Amino acid sequence: MRRIHVEAHAKVNLGLRVAGARPDGYHDIETVFQTVSLSDTVFLEASNRGISLSCEGIPVPAGPSNLAWQAAAQLMRELAAPAMSITLFKRIPVAAGLGGGSADAAAVLMGGCALFDLEVSDAQLGSLALKIGSDVPFLLRGGTARGLGRGEILESMGPLSGFWLLLVTPLFPIRAKEAYAGVRIGLTRDRCYTKLNSSAIREGELGSLVTALRNDLEPGVISCHPEVGVVKQALLDAGVQAAVMSGSGPTVIGLVRSREEATTLSPHLEGHGWQIHIVEPIDSGCRVEGA
Ligand code: C5P
Repeated sequence: MRRIHVEAHAKVNLGLRVAGARPDGYHDIETVFQTVSLSDTVFLEASNRGISLSCEGIPVPAGPSNLAWQAAAQLMRELAAPAMSITLFKRIPVAAGLGGGSADAAAVLMGGCALFDLEVSDAQLGSLALKIGSDVPFLLRGGTARGLGRGEILESMGPLSGFWLLLVTPLFPIRAKEAYAGVRIGLTRDRCYTKLNSSAIREGELGSLVTALRNDLEPGVISCHPEVGVVKQALLDAGVQAAVMSGSGPTVIGLVRSREEATTLSPHLEGHGWQIHIVEPIDSGCRVEGA
């Protein structure tokens, strides 16, 4: 039986500005998304018993609350795809600001289209993706992109290179809803640092990116979870070029110039029970590796 293999890459946010609350319960944001080399692996094959999902690696629910399951349900409902069986090898920390669940959903959307030869336009796939989550449209295509609206209005940028990242994740989850509930919009309305980041990225200038790196969700998250501030300070003390929380946290990313620098600094962050990943930016999203 045909089996499709998809690598589902994590994302980081190189800055995130919250522009304001919307009547639909979401917030308008301005961010720079970047996919990185850390990934989950998703296998898909046709099933004659409805959707089945099995998960290995980091524990996650294997039922309808899993975004991979929801993506399969969308494909069946909206594009008349046959039922499918999903095997998920989970490496991306969960509810950590790295888009792991969204990446798995994007992988099922893309892999399901390849497995069943579904005819679907990019726009149609993008709108299915947005029904699952705000980050899913970006994670389908990946690379470097400015995200506006809920994060689904995407402008390609980059590709970005010349730096590596240390991802440091304390061992508690944060739901995006909680992080957005704590944002202080009044304080941030006039800033335009993601625009600054965008021009720094266009010019390949790590220096200006570093000075402009901010996340409006970070102060609210740190006031509820002070350990996120401890992680950030530990990264700065270790000597990274810049540190900022990714998305709704709790992962804090540290920018460094090379893999060697990341490897040298990483031991300074051990001994706290934090997960540490050394990753590089990549210029793709989820990738169908073959049948
Ligand atoms: O789209 P997603 O399911 O990832 O969003 C989870 C929650 O995060 C939303 O229900 C909302 O509370 C918050 N959110 C937001 N504005 C965004 C993205 C997410 O308020 N742009």
